[in-house]
Amino acid sequence: MSAPATQRSTAQVSVNSTVHEFDGPPHTNALDFLRGAGLTAAKEGCAEGECGACAIMVARPDADGTTRWTSVNSCLLPAAALDGQEVITAEGLADAESVHPVQEELAVRGGSQCGYCTPGFICSMAAEYYRPERAEDAIAADHHCGPNGFDIHSLSGNLCRCTGYRPIRDAAYALGQPEAGDTIAQRRQKPAPTSASTDIHRADTATGEPGRYRRPSTLAEALDILAAEPETLVVAGATDWGVEVNIKGARAKSMLAIDRLPELRGIRRTEDYIELGAAHTLSELERELAGSIPLLGKLIPQFASRLIRNAATIGGNLGTGSPIGDAPPALLALEAQLVLTSLQGSRVVDLAEYFTGYRQTVRAAGELITAIRIPLPLAPMTSFQKIAKRRFDDISSVAIGYAVSVEDGVVAKARIGLGGVAATPLRADATEALLEGSAWTLETVHGAAETLAAEGTPMDDHRASAKYRTAMLRSSLERFYAEQEAGR
Ligand SMILES: Cc1cc2nc3c(=O)[nH]c(=O)nc-3n(C[C@H](O)[C@H](O)[C@H](O)COP(=O)(O)OP(=O)(O)OC[C@H]3O[C@@H](n4cnc5c(N)ncnc54)[C@H](O)[C@@H]3O)c2cc1C
Ligand code: FES
Ligand code: FES
Repeated sequence: MSAPATQRSTAQVSVNSTVHEFDGPPHTNALDFLRGAGLTAAKEGCAEGECGACAIMVARPDADGTTRWTSVNSCLLPAAALDGQEVITAEGLADAESVHPVQEELAVRGGSQCGYCTPGFICSMAAEYYRPERAEDAIAADHHCGPNGFDIHSLSGNLCRCTGYRPIRDAAYALGQPEAGDTIAQRRQKPAPTSASTDIHRADTATGEPGRYRRPSTLAEALDILAAEPETLVVAGATDWGVEVNIKGARAKSMLAIDRLPELRGIRRTEDYIELGAAHTLSELERELAGSIPLLGKLIPQFASRLIRNAATIGGNLGTGSPIGDAPPALLALEAQLVLTSLQGSRVVDLAEYFTGYRQTVRAAGELITAIRIPLPLAPMTSFQKIAKRRFDDISSVAIGYAVSVEDGVVAKARIGLGGVAATPLRADATEALLEGSAWTLETVHGAAETLAAEGTPMDDHRASAKYRTAMLRSSLERFYAEQEAGR
């Protein structure tokens, strides 16, 4: 068993191969820390994960034990989370003799005008430039990947207000593979920095309020802390928490980082279920599941942007208890179960029983979501419909997950998860009951549409009216039917 970390007042972060000391209050984000250290390439545009002007690269562990350069929004990430970690900013890409190929291509193809967004684009592009699978994707180039395998969606979290995106795409698609002596590429072959056991204690200089950031190295240690201090704020990818800090001025006297706990990471497969570690990020799940849970394969690319998915965890999406998270409708359709763990042990709860009210759940103080179980076998017909104002990088107005099996032309099982139409995500129980045992025909679907439209209690808000949400539910089943028929 590892010993608890020694309390310190500073964090040590390797930025562009130089160690910098972070000695600010624990709520400080990585962007403010870097800019305070004189590294001003990363910019603040929105401070809520929407624009990518603050993007940096961090060295993250890959599934095979090597390192993956991963782009993240530094405006959301607590600086203390970088203790013992390695970071590259746009300043660190060029060397004394030459600019980096990404910088070169962006410059010569006119991909930068005012330049405010450019360092963020550079970091997202560089992370994609170093993506190990890019060479294989070049062979299978499709409408997402350029002829060089560059996935254009890697830039989905970066906004540019003045250049226009075509020159930026031209630059991305013109990139070759890293050269033999490229030290950033070589760094990938070694393991990522370990998740140092961290305990930073420091008062806010403005208010005098004490603040503490702890990153235990084992689940047992984390549960001990939670049991002793139930008011401690659990933080995983901080993509929700970072917005609270920046936009709403939220502060936590004590933060408990759980995103690197080995017990909460990885994917485990048994004969009966696939278990997803709660602290696995959406990007890791996308990569490592590789379409083996097709419904999640449809959901994840529609979840936020690459920058957000690189940090956001699946457990964090359920930890918020939000009625508009994208994972719950899909996971409800998959009849997922949550593993909730405390010092007293673990219990398994059906996701359908997890949400009890607006942002309220059965999770007790002292409990963590440690894993999400997807029972096997998987239904053959699945879909994820996300209705939002923008196709990518937007929060859902309504989200619907389907998992249906049909035998001999009759619906044998139907599971439908809904988000955005009530105070909690919910199952469309009445529609499921109506479908099961009915012939899988357009007539059945039309007959069930009104039942589906009446599920939930949609509300008017700034995203959509109740009427619109009901209309989306009404048309959803027909859309699912059409998708399935088209795919036959
Ligand atoms: C620009 C932007 C776009 C977004 N787009 C989407 C989107 O398209 N779809 C969507 O659903 N969401 C979206 N989100 C919201 C957010 O990214 C997700 O909810 C994400 O999954 C949160 O995960 P996290 O690890 O960052 O959580 P954190 O911010 O670290 O934590 C969120 C909450 O969950 C709790 N928590 C975290 N992990 C656990 C655990 N293991 N056990 C118990 N409690 C836990 C924390 O205490 C906290 O209350 C977006 C956010 C931003 C900023
Ligand atoms: S400043 Fe806009 S995403 Fe961070
Ligand atoms: S170059 Fe001005 S915002 Fe992109």
